[in-house]
Amino acid sequence: MTQRPPSPIGVFDSGLGGLTVAKALAERLPHEQLVYLGDTARVPYGTRSPATVVRYARNNVAFLRKQGVKLVVVACNTVSAHGLAGLTDGGDLPIVGVIRPGARAALAASSGGTLAVLGTPGTIRSGAYEQAVHELDPEREVVSIACPLFVPLVEEGWTQHAVTTAVAREYLEPLRGSRVDTLILGCTHYPLLRETITAVATELLGREIAIVDSASAVASDVAALLEKLGLTAPSFDATGEETRPPAHRFCVTDAPDRVGEVALQFFGRSIGAFEHVDVLPSPA
Ligand code: DGL
Repeated sequence: MTQRPPSPIGVFDSGLGGLTVAKALAERLPHEQLVYLGDTARVPYGTRSPATVVRYARNNVAFLRKQGVKLVVVACNTVSAHGLAGLTDGGDLPIVGVIRPGARAALAASSGGTLAVLGTPGTIRSGAYEQAVHELDPEREVVSIACPLFVPLVEEGWTQHAVTTAVAREYLEPLRGSRVDTLILGCTHYPLLRETITAVATELLGREIAIVDSASAVASDVAALLEKLGLTAPSFDATGEETRPPAHRFCVTDAPDRVGEVALQFFGRSIGAFEHVDVLPSPA
């Protein structure tokens, strides 16, 4: 009798930035298959209204549900910031966001100083990071900084560029003379700017600080949740051989040409072909 393969984990983002989270998941859970969805036709989400972002996110979750996923990772801070409740049509599909794991990782890295959050305008306006931090540590001071130009700079591949450094200096100016000891990269694109952000933050503060993102904390949370729900893919088959999951699937809503090079930077290794998919509900 052939066993049915375990269901995959669904991961989505407004674009390709969520591949930084997919990378952490693939490393932490090597026996799990991933179905990644980048809504490249509608990126960016970070400058759109909460109602629009939630509508897009619901389309993405419905698409992933149709692919038979057992759990959805919202690898987008902007979507996670606007709330995960209501994304699943009341179904029982487990959903994991990136804000709480990010807040937890920042508090773990901090020595009690102020936390600074960098994010898209939508994420920063929502106040979701402050809320998540204050649920864990009500007295903690949090400084929030919207960085609208960072996403287009990363998309353009300008991760190490004089213009990006100049932009980072503008955005990070509030750090000067502050008590900030930990900085949260509150957008899935920002890990690609880690070097630039680290250099500028060190320059402005005259000391080193911790810089965290949600990716590995999210991967740990997903591992724990799968375990709790009894949904973890087996590491060994009936013959004692280590299992190899089917190849991950990578889907985008816009034409898949040109995504390969950027995806390589986010995922850290080459991704085969991207599938072009439509996530809009078919007209009734
Ligand atoms: N990936 C999104 C996030 O983490 C940012 C990109 C966008 O604006 O769509 O917030």
